[in-house]
Amino acid sequence: MSKVQVIHTAEALHQFRQKLNENSQSLGFVPTMGALHNGHISLIKKSAEENDYTLISIFVNPKQFNNSEDLKQYPRTLEADLMLLEGLQHCVVFAPTEAELYPKNDGFVPMELGSIGRVLEGAFRPGHFEGVVHVVHNLFRLVDANQAYFGQKDFQQLAIIRLLTRYYGFKTRIIACPTIREASGLAMSSRNMRLNEKELQDALIIIETLRYVEAAKNQRSIEETIMAARTLFSTSDLALEYLAIVDPETLCELSEWQEKQICCIAAHCGSVRLIDNLLF
Ligand code: PAF
Repeated sequence: MSKVQVIHTAEALHQFRQKLNENSQSLGFVPTMGALHNGHISLIKKSAEENDYTLISIFVNPKQFNNSEDLKQYPRTLEADLMLLEGLQHCVVFAPTEAELYPKNDGFVPMELGSIGRVLEGAFRPGHFEGVVHVVHNLFRLVDANQAYFGQKDFQQLAIIRLLTRYYGFKTRIIACPTIREASGLAMSSRNMRLNEKELQDALIIIETLRYVEAAKNQRSIEETIMAARTLFSTSDLALEYLAIVDPETLCELSEWQEKQICCIAAHCGSVRLIDNLLF
């Protein structure tokens, strides 16, 4: 049994937050869906460096899954997650039930996401970002953190979280953290747990293709680069969902290279959907 403090209710979280306020202690927040890996740990360590306490939420949010099989298969490993956090000082876990996080009449009023919510993940996972906005809104309201930490692997999610923070007037500062990769280059993700040995190898085509695109910058046109990158990707066993080179602010597809762009990929590796990106 882990010794990490786990809060399950909104009321207990409120009391914890109040105590910090009384002692003028700051709170960093790392929202997760559990199945913690070193990517999460890097966010938690950054928060621990910058705040008196860190709260890690663990909640598999049904509202953000547009595919019921994906929700069913999503890893749930609370005991192992708590063991991983063992020994980290001033870290507390918030693991609410659905009823606790989404009480009846929770006062949530959806926001219009605009074009940023309709492209890339928004186009392929209808309702996904609406679900992310709802859960992050409810979490931010309960946690009232000074700073919240998000990984850049979910680049579009990060852009939407910045948007919702402004829209709902949360005072929480959003801190973007770099994608953490395996030595092989595979971006760390809770979904990697579901890949077998062969799929872990196959999945490397994602980072290979992203690096190919980066190297092609200013050598070939964007159109040619995308065509060649798709051809490279098609040599793999993965099924490509999208490969796009977009502006990092608007996420609009580019026809000319700029100083900064981001290449985003989503693909199915067996039954597991993976995303990754490279900003260059
Ligand atoms: O990135 C995630 O793990 C989730 O989308 C988040 C932000 C915890 C909301 O459920």
